[in-house]
Amino acid sequence: MAHEQIVYLNGEFLPLAQAKISVLDRGFLFGDGVYEVIPVYGGKPFRLAEHLARLNNSLAGLRIVSPLGDAEWEALFARLIEGEDDQSIYLQITRGAPPKRDHAFPKDPVPPTVFAMCTPIAPIPAQGVSAITVPDIRWQWCHIKAITLLGNVLLRQQAVEQGCAEAILVRDGYAIEGAASNLFAVVDGILMTPPKGHDILPGITRDLVVEIAHDNGIALEERKIAFDELKRASEVWVTSSTREVLPIVELDGVKVGDGIPGPLWARVNDLYQARKALLRRGL
Ligand code: PDD
Repeated sequence: MAHEQIVYLNGEFLPLAQAKISVLDRGFLFGDGVYEVIPVYGGKPFRLAEHLARLNNSLAGLRIVSPLGDAEWEALFARLIEGEDDQSIYLQITRGAPPKRDHAFPKDPVPPTVFAMCTPIAPIPAQGVSAITVPDIRWQWCHIKAITLLGNVLLRQQAVEQGCAEAILVRDGYAIEGAASNLFAVVDGILMTPPKGHDILPGITRDLVVEIAHDNGIALEERKIAFDELKRASEVWVTSSTREVLPIVELDGVKVGDGIPGPLWARVNDLYQARKALLRRGL
C-alpha cells in the first residue's frame, strides 16, 4: 500500500486526504494569511530561528496573534519531518473561518487555521536556468510573506510559458527580486543584491549568502540594481529556500556572461553547500 503522507492541521497529525478546512476560511476567501517555507537537511530545519523570526514579523504585519511559540513550532516540525532526505516544511497560518464573509477582521476573533506539511526538495540544476524580466505587478507590502500570491503566480507562469524557470521583477527601473526568489548580480566585477525594504521579501537564503560573503572576504554591496546593470551583469543568481543559489545563464533570450554558471557562483555555492553539510552532521 502506498505510504500516506501525514500533515498537521489545527493541532492534529493526520493523513493528507483527511485534512479538511471550512470554505469560509479567510485564507480561501481572501488570501488572508501568511506562510513559511523552511528547508530541512539531514532531518534538521535549516536557519530555523531566522524563519521563525520572519514568520512572527509576517503575522504581526497582518495582526494575527501567533498561535504557537518558537519551541512549539520546533516540536511540531520535528514530528512532521520524515527521514533524512532533503525536504521543505510548508507552514501556513490564516485568520481562520468566522461564520460570515466580510472583508474586515471578524469582530469576534476565531482561532487561526494552522497547516503544515513536508515536501521533497529536488537538487538544483547546476548548469543553471533561463529567466525573463517582467514589470512587477504586485502590491506594496512584499516584505510580508503573505499567501496572497496572485501577482507572483501570474509572473512565474509568464516565465514558464516562455520556457524559463524564473521571472525577474522590475519596479521603477530597478530589478528587485524573482517571482519566488531574491536576486544577486555581478556587475563590473562587483557582487550586489538589492537592499531589504517593503518592495522585496527578506529572504533567509539571501541573508545567508550575504553572511557567507562577509565571512569569506567576498566583496558584496547591498544596493539597488538598475535594469541596464542587470542586462550587462557577468553573473546573475536567484536564491530561495528550495532553489538555494541558482545561476541564471540566459536572461531574456541573451546569454549571461559566457552562458554558463560563473566563477563567483561556483565559490559561493561551495560555501553554501558546506553550511548544509555542517547541519547534516549536527554542527
Ligand atoms: N519563496 N522572494 C519571494 C517573492 C519569495 O517567494 C521567496 C521564497 C524568496 C526567497 O526567500 P527564502 O530564501 O527565505 O526562501 C524571495 C518560497 C520558497 C515559496 O514561495 O515557495
